[in-house]
Amino acid sequence: MLRQPILLLARSERVKQLVSILPVSSGIVTSYVPGETTQSAVDATAGLADAGLHATLDFLGEDTLDAEQADATVAAYTDLLSSLAARGLTRGAEVSVKLSAIGQALPDNGHKIALENARTICRAARNAGTSVTLDMEDHTTTDSTLAILRELRKDFPETGAVLQAYLHRTEADCRALAYEGSRVRLCKGAYNEPESVAWQDKLDVDLSYVRCLKVLMAGHGYPMIATHDPRMVEIASSLASRYGRVQGSYEFQMLYGIRPEEQRRLAAAGESVRVYVPYGHEWYGYLMRRLAERPQNLTFFARSLISK
Ligand code: FDA
Repeated sequence: MLRQPILLLARSERVKQLVSILPVSSGIVTSYVPGETTQSAVDATAGLADAGLHATLDFLGEDTLDAEQADATVAAYTDLLSSLAARGLTRGAEVSVKLSAIGQALPDNGHKIALENARTICRAARNAGTSVTLDMEDHTTTDSTLAILRELRKDFPETGAVLQAYLHRTEADCRALAYEGSRVRLCKGAYNEPESVAWQDKLDVDLSYVRCLKVLMAGHGYPMIATHDPRMVEIASSLASRYGRVQGSYEFQMLYGIRPEEQRRLAAAGESVRVYVPYGHEWYGYLMRRLAERPQNLTFFARSLISK
């Protein structure tokens, strides 16, 4: 019931300004974001590597309407990639990029600018010995994001995509992307979407997730199973057996700070596990989407605001 209103607030500039007075060190923020700096992201990656976990790093930011801001985001990624390489961490760490943070939403030539900026990040990732996954945002960007993926994959075939099970179109997109060499992260979807394009009931989203998972696990690509849902994890494991997939021919992914003990349990059982690590000062939209998934955390959030 609270999911929709919280997701609407996630896009409110006024509430963002109010909430952004919270320091990144406040409890609710650090439970999901390790810090604001490149150093904090690299340290978090090193800590995960020590625990046998891989990472994908996201420099927080989205929906930018400022070309300079988009350039600054590209620079943040290239800086991050060289820092990861300098610490010898790129074997187990890649980056996740939101195209709206690097220009996709710009009114003039947004698609083209995002493609060129994504190319720069892919080149930096290649030079550092790793890869990029394109995050998926709201449904109005899906076609543009998949078109950019196709372009990038011509030169950087290691580039991964995200598909969201709550969208009606996603089972077909999974079929189209289940080819050899393709890396697809399947998540449930985190945005406020209309009934015309997305399932609204949790049960329908879960059923779609399982159908999509079947397509990806039966296919020839590399499925990245992004969920904290114990049922989905269990179903993914049985599908791996059903389709003769060995450990390492797919991976589990979870968000930083969510079910860390399960991340370690899966890794100890021999599974590849990657943790999505967001960092930077633009944490507002990300935090609101996490609160929408778990409104129980609202009290914790309100307490952080009051004690500020
Ligand atoms: P669900 O929401 O049903 O939660 C299952 C269980 O997980 C809960 O019962 C609870 O125990 C735990 N849990 C879930 N959320 C929690 C929270 N915030 N705090 C504490 N516990 C929580 N979305 C998107 O639209 N585009 C994208 O690019 C990505 N990228 C992405 C990468 C990775 C690695 C992950 C794991 C997720 C994403 N997502 C995403 C987010 C995704 O779409 C989805 O919103 C969340 O993962 C929550 O869905 P679950 O599958 O975890 O199930």
